[in-house]
Amino acid sequence: MSQTIVEVNKLNKVFKQGKNQKVHVLKDIDAKIERGEFLSIMGPSGSGKTTFLYNISGMDRMTSGNVLLNGEEIADKSEAELAKLRLTRMGFIFQDIYLLRNLNLFDNVIYTGYIAKNRKKEEIDEHANQLMKRMGIDEIKSHDITEASGGQLQRVGICRALINEPEIIFGDEPTGALNSKATEEILNILLDINSEGTTIVLVTHDIRVAARSQRVLFMIDGEIRAEKQLGKFNKEAIDSNEQLTKREEQMNQWLKQNGF
Ligand SMILES: Nc1ncnc2c1ncn2[C@@H]1O[C@H](COP(=O)(O)OP(=O)(O)OP(=O)(O)O)[C@@H](O)[C@H]1O
Ligand SMILES: [Mg+2]
Repeated sequence: MSQTIVEVNKLNKVFKQGKNQKVHVLKDIDAKIERGEFLSIMGPSGSGKTTFLYNISGMDRMTSGNVLLNGEEIADKSEAELAKLRLTRMGFIFQDIYLLRNLNLFDNVIYTGYIAKNRKKEEIDEHANQLMKRMGIDEIKSHDITEASGGQLQRVGICRALINEPEIIFGDEPTGALNSKATEEILNILLDINSEGTTIVLVTHDIRVAARSQRVLFMIDGEIRAEKQLGKFNKEAIDSNEQLTKREEQMNQWLKQNGF
């Protein structure tokens, strides 16, 4: 398998606004995401981070350029093919988790597994049980979504994102609505998943998220203007807290240099 999981060449996105207004949001972006990476994307509001994430994951159609996922051009794929790709090979985590209201927490996790139709229901149920146990939410699995905290719901969202064993997880501000403690818990889960080989790409405003990433991209006005290699963060290291403080300082300085 190739080292590069996502390759982006000269990606442009132009939105139509109103009747004859156009807004050029992504401008000739080149980027590569390596398999197993933990990448964060930062930048001011309106710089195009969410649009970038949507366009590289096939949630939206680019205007021009190409995006290769495992070497395959996603622009060539039909809507149905893209939907299948997203369902079976990608996981998504958002600030607003968009769980289905009429299903309990467990059913929200298995639902995505059932619609992929590539495993037996018993296998999916078993996997959902394992995931929910690992995330510490197995005791509330039959709760309604109104009977769980924000942090618990976000873990349900992660279980759902993992149920089809994706090779890459895309997150848009996954910790944006969480308090510090819940943010750290979610980040620890994501670090574990990453250490097992899953590639993670997160859009974030949160320095704590960026400091735990391996690499950070900084977007301004539809372009990637800066890149910072931090290297893998090992939360199991004895001096992990010290390391984290250093990495946060590094990130703070770098963001200042970039006028953020
Ligand atoms: N569907 C759309 N139609 C028209 N314009 C859009 C659409 N989606 C986004 N835009 C515009 O594209 C620009 C970038 O938006 P985007 O949501 O990607 O920014 P962002 O960096 O994610 O910002 P934030 O940090 O606030 O989430 C904005 O000017 C926005 O108004
Ligand atoms: Mg956004």
